[in-house]
Amino acid sequence: MSQLSPMLKQATPVVATRGEGMYLFDADDRRYLDFTSGVGVTNTGHCHPRVVEAVQRQAGRLIHGQYTTVLHDQLLTLSERLGEVLPPGLDSLFYMSSGSEAVEAALRLARHATGRQNVIVFDGSFHGRTMGAAAMTTAGHRFRAAIGPVMPGVAVAPFPDAFRLGLSEEEAVEHALRGLDRVLATVSAPEETAAMFVEPVLGEGGYVPAPAGFLTGLRERADRHGILLVFDEIQTGFGRTGKFWAHQYSDGLVPDILTTAKGLASGFPLSAIAAPAALMAKARPGSQGGTYGGNAVACAAALATLDVIREERLVANAAEQGRRLADGLRRIAADAPAIADVRALGLMAGSEFCRPDGSPDPEAAQRAQRAASDLGLLLLSCGVHGNVIRMIPALVVSAEQIDEALSLWAKAVSSSAAAA
Ligand SMILES: Cc1ncc(COP(=O)(O)O)c(C=O)c1O
Repeated sequence: MSQLSPMLKQATPVVATRGEGMYLFDADDRRYLDFTSGVGVTNTGHCHPRVVEAVQRQAGRLIHGQYTTVLHDQLLTLSERLGEVLPPGLDSLFYMSSGSEAVEAALRLARHATGRQNVIVFDGSFHGRTMGAAAMTTAGHRFRAAIGPVMPGVAVAPFPDAFRLGLSEEEAVEHALRGLDRVLATVSAPEETAAMFVEPVLGEGGYVPAPAGFLTGLRERADRHGILLVFDEIQTGFGRTGKFWAHQYSDGLVPDILTTAKGLASGFPLSAIAAPAALMAKARPGSQGGTYGGNAVACAAALATLDVIREERLVANAAEQGRRLADGLRRIAADAPAIADVRALGLMAGSEFCRPDGSPDPEAAQRAQRAASDLGLLLLSCGVHGNVIRMIPALVVSAEQIDEALSLWAKAVSSSAAAA
């Protein structure tokens, strides 16, 4: 008898058999409040009826209209409809299946368009697990240990993580931008640098929002040196942070390339890069592709996702429920000495666990996460040291469900502290 590889590491012991809205159920019909949403994917909730209906309809019409062989109507319609939500000027799209592939596609495009090799990423970044994306990932050595050498040409500049640096937000931005200038002066010459890749909220790296001043500083340097600015909105996009894209918290700022995946298709594997048509035209035709890229059923799911987000006002709901969640998490942290910081932007909230001396405490974080899952609340960890517990509920979450999660989280935090 064959079995699943132990290479797969899971955050909870749950075996899910069905999902509905904010909940997952196991074979005994035990209900779990899902504040992981499949790592920020099922933004419209599990099995939203509109998404299910669109997928069922499309599966009966055309499942696989392979896009390097034929075009299909869902891909064309989705490309038009994404224009409603994309930042101004980013009017050309290319599709893949996973986030890592989107990052690789953005990298290829940046190298083709600039004729330069190097890329700069920021400390704590997560851009994926394929070999190019892994080389651009600095959120922990587990993503690259013992698989090297990874792709050369990647330089790492500081991220303005004010809490970890022990600085004010303003000081952290200044520190990070000075660090970037130093990288450009010492490691990656501007004329050899194709792109800077940044997550508007550091995801796997610990849920740290990038202050507007930092992103503006990147834009200035990108413009000055002819370097392309890539916003990796794979986790932060599609309404997750209370704006359609997280970088929209920095007024008027637009990237050269944007990557999206996860929430794009409510759980179907679909990713995309968006860029101005003139930039996209610099890629070599046929250099990008993939057997499953732009799959017809996934595109139908994405079209239904766009409808649901608009009609149910899910971006506004993410902002409103995000505030409720952040307030509640801060109240709980005030009574929990192990939680040293709470950071949140919309429905992307992290509680950072530290020891009394300020060092990261992944064991305390894991105890609290396990206690929460025993109580029926599913959560994930993140952070370079695994000491941040993140909450990323679907954007359909209600005030009552936020309160239910907060009450379970308060119990999990106090019971796991008592058991320590
Ligand atoms: C910001 C970011 N970029 C890239 C990826 C990689 O996406 P995938 O796991 O679909 O390859 C992720 C996944 O968590 C992500 O959060």
